[in-house]
Amino acid sequence: MEAWLQGGFTGFFEVIELEEKASETSGIENWREDCKTADCSRRHGNSSVNGETCSCIGLIAASGMSHGELRYEIKLARSLTKGIIGINIMVAASDFFGIVKTAIQEKIDLIVAGAGFSRDIFGLGKESNTPIVPIVSSVKLAKISERLGASAIVVEGKEAGGHLGTDVSVRDLIAPIREAVKIPVIAAGGMLTGQDIVDIMKKGANGVQMGSRFAASEESNAAPSLKQYYLKSKPEDIVVIHSPVGLPGRAVRTPFSKRVMDGPVPPKVCDKCLKACQHNFCIVRALIRAQQGDLETGLVFTGEFMPRIEKILSVKEIINNLMKEVAVAV
Ligand SMILES: Cc1cc2nc3c(=O)[nH]c(=O)nc-3n(C[C@H](O)[C@H](O)[C@H](O)COP(=O)(O)O)c2cc1C
Repeated sequence: MEAWLQGGFTGFFEVIELEEKASETSGIENWREDCKTADCSRRHGNSSVNGETCSCIGLIAASGMSHGELRYEIKLARSLTKGIIGINIMVAASDFFGIVKTAIQEKIDLIVAGAGFSRDIFGLGKESNTPIVPIVSSVKLAKISERLGASAIVVEGKEAGGHLGTDVSVRDLIAPIREAVKIPVIAAGGMLTGQDIVDIMKKGANGVQMGSRFAASEESNAAPSLKQYYLKSKPEDIVVIHSPVGLPGRAVRTPFSKRVMDGPVPPKVCDKCLKACQHNFCIVRALIRAQQGDLETGLVFTGEFMPRIEKILSVKEIINNLMKEVAVAV
């Protein structure tokens, strides 16, 4: 089944030097150009802003893709850049290991795994020397991840888009997690500006992962009508639904999100895409409908601060702005 859970890739603006394989290559090509435009001096595939090392990683949202689609997307991304390319994948997906193994066969640079936690993925990472980066929302899971061999962790707070593992702000999660582990800690949730990046790094983060800002970018493969819907959203339009994955999920209010908040909308057909589905609705089909511009029956995943985004910008403009803002804020 053709499937996209978000706008093509999640932006991953990182102001650290990720060790291991990821550091051998540089950021996504056009992002790299942006680093240059922002007057960063490049060294060893990374760039420097006021002494800080910085680089960018592009993530392909792989959940729901067939193996053929994933191979195609990885090859396409490789043809566009010499930079670091990862996938993110939901642990809750029934084909989780199939996707992970396919990405490894395609020599993906790193794997980010969220919406659940897998202990078994670390063995595959070690065998193939592929950095594994779990998404966590607690000190406990951060420590377990480090012990099992994670190369870094993404710490997602309540402000994040999509599935949520906590109701605690990322601003409160970072310091205790930073204290608890030695591996790089990437903050996710509500990071929109250079000031946000500098503030969270002062709390101990080594970098940030950004979703909403890139979902509302020119390059995002969401339908233009969905991008406009994002721009029109107001804080009171942002809701939390109960996802069939068994986790809360943040969405922009649509007629469909209202229906699922009022009660189950059991799917008529089921592709058994989740290991354990609660069948209150079909999340993959609902996300695809939204991505294709159906704002009546689609589920529009979003981060809490999407209403702060005022313009659809290109990735180049977004990175340029961030670099300038970071340079001013440090
Ligand atoms: C539309 C949308 C779809 C998302 N889908 C995924 C996903 O498929 N897998 C994943 O690991 N994270 C997903 N996320 C979460 C992001 O990767 C990211 O961690 C989070 O949104 C960061 O918060 P921000 O949106 O405030 O920047 C999604 C986020 C958005 C906005």
